[in-house]
Amino acid sequence: MEIPFSRWHLAIDKRRSRRHFDAKLPMAPEIVAALDRVCNRFAPFPGARSCLVTESAKRVFRGIIGGYGKVKDAPAFIAFVGNMDDPFVQEKVGYTGEGIILEATALGLSTCWVAGFFKREIVTSIIGVSNKERVLAITPVGYARESEQWEERLMTGFGRSHNRLALPKLVRGLPRETWPGWVNVSLEAARLAPSAVNRQPWSFEVQDDGITISVRTRGPGFNVSKRLDCGIAMLHLEVAAVDSDCKGEWGFLPSPQVAKFKIRS
Ligand SMILES: Cc1cc2nc3c(=O)[nH]c(=O)nc-3n(C[C@H](O)[C@H](O)[C@H](O)COP(=O)(O)O)c2cc1C
Repeated sequence: MEIPFSRWHLAIDKRRSRRHFDAKLPMAPEIVAALDRVCNRFAPFPGARSCLVTESAKRVFRGIIGGYGKVKDAPAFIAFVGNMDDPFVQEKVGYTGEGIILEATALGLSTCWVAGFFKREIVTSIIGVSNKERVLAITPVGYARESEQWEERLMTGFGRSHNRLALPKLVRGLPRETWPGWVNVSLEAARLAPSAVNRQPWSFEVQDDGITISVRTRGPGFNVSKRLDCGIAMLHLEVAAVDSDCKGEWGFLPSPQVAKFKIRS
């Protein structure tokens, strides 16, 4: 499937994690069909796939401590599955899953990546996975409650969880004055990528022929691979680059690097 670059670029600004859904607002059949279509069609890597489950997500979510991270009243969820034999499975699942999340956002739906605290065995039994596959994350999907209620605001630190580090803290390489226009736009989009506990475990090196993403290995892992977060940032970066008329290709790299977006000359 060809990525709808402008549509997903617009969705990057609109997306934010929502955990409480409106039980009185079901998704229309055409919205469910559109979501299912993108789950089946947006599979750019053989080792990563997405699967929509249109049953109440109640039995697959669990809160972290107390109510933190608790998802309520989601009418459906999407599972993000990877082939664990693939050395870049985390990056590929992050990239693929974020495409689905941005399309859901463009359809007016809300989502929240959940990688640590869900009942994996229940999801696995619902969707069926091969012995090489693992469900790396899921997202609830549906219409969020109109306003964030106190419980949801409390768990997201009254909005602070959406804050991001400033670009100068994340970027090295060519000086900013020399960047072509697409670089700034793409790094801004990558900076807005969601990450587990908002840890933003990435850094970017701007080079003459592209941008390399690396993973910052310091800091707690919370049992969720930081390379999954980096795969999400890769999709944001590419969507913004191509929407700014800069085409390129990803090449995966060994740790602590993740991948380089090399521009097509
Ligand atoms: C890979 C990944 C795993 C996440 N896991 C959880 C989780 O287990 N529970 C939860 O409530 N939020 C989870 N989140 C959501 C993050 O807390 C959220 O994306 C981050 O705080 C940034 O906020 P924003 O998405 O509103 O921009 C996860 C996000 C990512 C990208």
